[in-house]
Order: sequence, then structure tokens, then C-alpha cells
Amino acid sequence: MKIRTHRCGELTKAQVGQKVILNGWVQRRRDHGAVLFIDLRDRTGLTQVVFNAERNAAVHQIAQTLRSECVLSVSGQVMARPEESRNQNLPTGDIEIFVDAVEILNEAKTPPFMIEDDLEITEALRLKYRYLDLRRPKMQRLLGLRHGIMQAVRAFLNAESFLEVETPVLTKSTPEGARDYLVPSRVNPGMFYALPQSPQLFKQVLMVSGVDRYYQIARCFRDEDLRNDRQPEFTQIDLEMSFVDREQVMMLMERMIRSVFKDAAGVQLPVPFPRMTYAEAMGRYGSDKPDLRFDMPLHDVTAFAAKSEFKVFKEAATKGGIVKALILSDGASMARSRIDALGETAKSFGAKGLAWLKITAEGQLESVIAKFLDAQAFALALPEAKPGDLVLFGADKPAIVHDVLGRIRLQLGEELNLIDTTAWKPLWVTEFPLLDYSPEEKRYIFMHNPFAAPMDEDLPFLDTEPLKARAKAYDMVLNGSEIGGGSIRNHRSDIQFRILDLLGIGKEQAQAKFGFLLEALEYGAPPHGGIAFGLDRLIMLLGGADSIRDVIAFPKTQRAQCPLTDAPSAVNADQLKELRIKLDLVE
Ligand code: AMO
Ligand code: AMP
Repeated sequence: MKIRTHRCGELTKAQVGQKVILNGWVQRRRDHGAVLFIDLRDRTGLTQVVFNAERNAAVHQIAQTLRSECVLSVSGQVMARPEESRNQNLPTGDIEIFVDAVEILNEAKTPPFMIEDDLEITEALRLKYRYLDLRRPKMQRLLGLRHGIMQAVRAFLNAESFLEVETPVLTKSTPEGARDYLVPSRVNPGMFYALPQSPQLFKQVLMVSGVDRYYQIARCFRDEDLRNDRQPEFTQIDLEMSFVDREQVMMLMERMIRSVFKDAAGVQLPVPFPRMTYAEAMGRYGSDKPDLRFDMPLHDVTAFAAKSEFKVFKEAATKGGIVKALILSDGASMARSRIDALGETAKSFGAKGLAWLKITAEGQLESVIAKFLDAQAFALALPEAKPGDLVLFGADKPAIVHDVLGRIRLQLGEELNLIDTTAWKPLWVTEFPLLDYSPEEKRYIFMHNPFAAPMDEDLPFLDTEPLKARAKAYDMVLNGSEIGGGSIRNHRSDIQFRILDLLGIGKEQAQAKFGFLLEALEYGAPPHGGIAFGLDRLIMLLGGADSIRDVIAFPKTQRAQCPLTDAPSAVNADQLKELRIKLDLVE
């Protein structure tokens, strides 16, 4: 085989006249009789190669047999293309190769789809033939971006004295709140490892070990319902630091993300990132990961609602609920059918309804509920609403109103093209509640993870009103997506035990689940904290990918299957027997 002198995306006018060898795949063949053109492709791009019967009859004859995706080595001379056949859209568009010799390195079956970016093919087909799918330029670009981001992260953290340490994959369950993937142990019959949901416990142990600054580009496993931004197996940029407070972690991470975005993608992020407390984010945007690429905030009109004659408003406002409004500028022209459809959407999100009113050009209120409302009081309560606007209302418990209006806000932002898709809007969300209350389980549950430290001033709440305690936790949000989250941890075991107690995790259970960490805390654990970023989500955002599956070389489907390998699959009876496993519950 003749080894290449150049790659397929490299040659320009500078090499005109040179003899070169290219290796690659046949993208396309165009037969013009005595002259035959082939676009030869590799990861770097395409080069047009020309087989001319007059120049070399033998190679021209071979060229006629070449099919898409067969693998070639071609030798020839770089020629400037005639003016009229230059291609401005191709980096190699000024030249072509006149072929003197061609070697077929391998034939290819007819691929089930063309290797081109703009193809309407099902994802199932793409995933089954992933090796062909990955040949497409868009996928190559995303693989390259992923590589670039990982290298930029490593370069940044190495310069900041972090140590890269690997932690086990066959381990014990980590409490991140999802279901575990379990792996049976053959040598310990009846026992199981859990695949880590994150390296959380080990990275804290590493701080007790004196590692001081740890990072890992770590694979995490969570058996949860999959979505477009969730995979059962995903990658975190995971970090932990000793002798730090929130400010140090946040400032350093902000610098890291800025530097990675600049180095890997040429994107400039603002200095500093804005910050918002959890309470502010929920109250203003109905979300703990607000998309700040458009504003359209939620307005509190509870006081107005309490004095109105509309029963739904009055009841919500006087019985511990709230009433909030979304203003759609110039939305009064929206068709009734569309408003009704929004109401149905709100119901599907858990609301009882979505009251609305239009403000006419004369400033009158127009709505089925207008007769219950005082226009003057309304104008005072919501001065931001102008003639020509549409106002939507949610009335319920705060959690429902925020969630529903937050989601309606996002949907409208998209539908009405309010989102500036060229903008990059990062922010920190801070002061998350330490605990939440689960009405189904009738107990406290953790918001971030059970190791997050409470804010010092909120420590007394642990004994009085635990739901009021805020955590030293922070999430980094970008364009409405949670890209990272972390906290300062409980390095003192007394506070850690107190929190586990509130979570209903008794000493014995704690001992069984993560006794090793609790014990480690008793041997001089330094104050520490950290964060983990979702690497796949970062790449998705930076690469403009619609699905997390596009940024992972070999992802799983929504049903957690891999169409390429057919995993998961049945195993034979001997393997099960060796593991002492009997399948009697499978339908
Ligand atoms: P957390 O559970 O918030 O924190 O995860 C950190 C980040 O990982 C990403 N992420 C996911 N990405 C793809 N698919 C998933 N299924 C998935 N789940 C999470 C998100 C998220 O922000 N140990 C803590 C971190 C810490 O406290 O240091 C943890 O795992 O972008
Ligand atoms: P009703 O009085 O049930 O006919 O409702 C009148 C309007 O109020 C309708 O547009 C409903 O969608 C809306 N509505 C009902 N319940 C709520 C609620 N909890 N929050 C907001 N709007 C509501």
C-alpha cells in the first residue's frame, strides 16, 4: 500500500505541481466519459481526484469500477483547477489531483445511507451502522470538539495543580438519587457491585488522603428514565478541592469553563457569570436552571388576586398559594384556539388551568374572567402589561405555579422565536435548599446529595425548620441547561450525621452504605468541596447538537439499548449458574 503524503482536506494552491499520495474513501463518483471525477474523503475533508483516459487509460478503467465508500490509495499530481470549476465552499476547492496510479485497499458494500450531513434517516439506522454514521462530517466535528474540550480541561486543571486520579467502576452504590446498575460478583456469590452514579464518595476520601486537588473525566452510570440530555452512561468532569470555600470553587470553575469555551470553540463567555439564588431563579423564571437568552419573567400578582372576585385567584391567594402572571408582549392578537391549546399544555404540566386576559388598545381587559377583575387595580398590580399584550396566569401552590409557568415560558420562548440562539448565557444558581419534602414518602429527601454542607447561618434550622436550611451548593447553568453542580461538603462528622438523621438514614444504614466515608471524616478530613460538570451536555451545547446521543460515539437509545452491539442481551445458562443467578421474574 502506498502511504499518504497528505490528508484529504489539506491540499491547496501551495502544492500545485507536487506529486502526492492520498488515502481515503470514495465519497462520490461522477462519470463524464473520458474524464471521471471522484471525491476522496478522510476525517479532514474531501479532495477531487481526476481519472483521465487520455492521461492514463489503465487508471481510468479501474476508476469505472469504483463504488461509494471503497477505500483507495491514489497517487498523482496536484493541479490548479480551471477558473470556472473552482469550488469556494471546499478548502481544497482550488485544486484537483490528476491520478497516475490507484490501488483499491478495500471494497465496500453499498452503505444503507449516504455519508452526508443533511440526510433524513432514522436514528435507529444511524445507531445500527454507527461506524458509517460517524464518518459523516458533522459527527467527525463533534468527536473533534469532544476531544478538544477534554484536552482543554486537562490543560487548565494541570496548570492549577490538580491530580488526575481514577476511581473504581466496580464499587458500592453512591447516593446521587438514581437507580443503580448492579454487577454480580462470581467470587462472592449473591453479592453485587454497583456501578458508580458519580465518584462522589471516593473524591471526598481523596481529600482526606491529602490529594488536595483532584479531577477525573469520569464515567457515571445511572439507571433512570432517559431524555434528550440524559444517558444511562455519561461522562463527568469531576473535581474536588481541599481548604476552599464556595467562592474559590466557583471562581476557579468559572475561569475553567471560560478558558475551555475559548480554547476549544472560540466562544467568549462574560466575566463574571451572573449569580442568582435558587429562590430568585424559581420566583422569576419558574426554574432552577433559567434560560436567560430571553427575559419574559413571572410577575407576582398574589396581592391583587386576593382582592379580586375571581374565585380561583382568591382561593389560591388566600389559602397559602400564589398567583403569578406571564406577559406576552403584543400577544393580544393570539387566536383563541392557540390560547386554549396553551391551557391544555398547562394542564398536562399539572396545572388546573391557565387563566388569561388580553389588554385592548384602549386599555380594557378582555377575557372570560374580566368581569371579576378591576381594571384599575390590575394596572397598578402589573404596570409592565401594556395595551396589546396577553397575560397568562397560574394560581396554585408555589411549586406548581412556578413549574407550570416556567415551562410555558420556555415553550413560548421557542414558539415565538424569543430566544437569541447565538447568545451564551451562563449563570450560577446558589443557595439551594438543603432538603426537600417528599409527600409520597412522607420524609425529607436531599436536594443535591447528602454530603452538601448547610449554610453556617442556617445550621439552627436543622433542629427547628429543616426545610428552611440552605446548602452551600451551586449549579452552573448555561442557556437553560444544568451543566454542572456541586457543593461544599460536611467535613465534620457530627453535622454529617445530623443531616443523615434528617434524611431518615440511621447510623446503621449509613454505616452499611458509606461507612468508609463517614469513618474517613473522623481522621482529620480537611474542609473540602467540589463540583461535577456534565461533559456530554457541555459538548451538546457548544456543538449545537439536538441530542446527547450525537456527542457520544456509541450511545444508548431511549430504551437503554445499543443497536450496534445489541446490548443488553441474554446470557447463557452456564454464565448465570456461575453467578448463582436464577431468572424467575422475567416475563
Ligand atoms: P450531579 O448529579 O448534579 O452531581 O451531576 C453533575 C452533572 O452531570 C450531568 N448529568 C448527566 N448528564 C448526562 N446524563 C445523565 N443521566 C446525567 N446526570 C447528570 C449534569 C449534572 O449537572 N457528585 C455530584 C457532583 C458534586 O457534588 O461534586 C454529582 O454527580 O450536567
Ligand atoms: P373556570 O372558572 O374553571 O371556567 O376557569 C376560568 C379560567 O381560569 C379558565 O381559563 C381556566 O383555564 C382558568 N383556571 C382555572 N383554574 C386555574 C388555576 N388554578 N390557575 C390558573 N388558571 C386557572
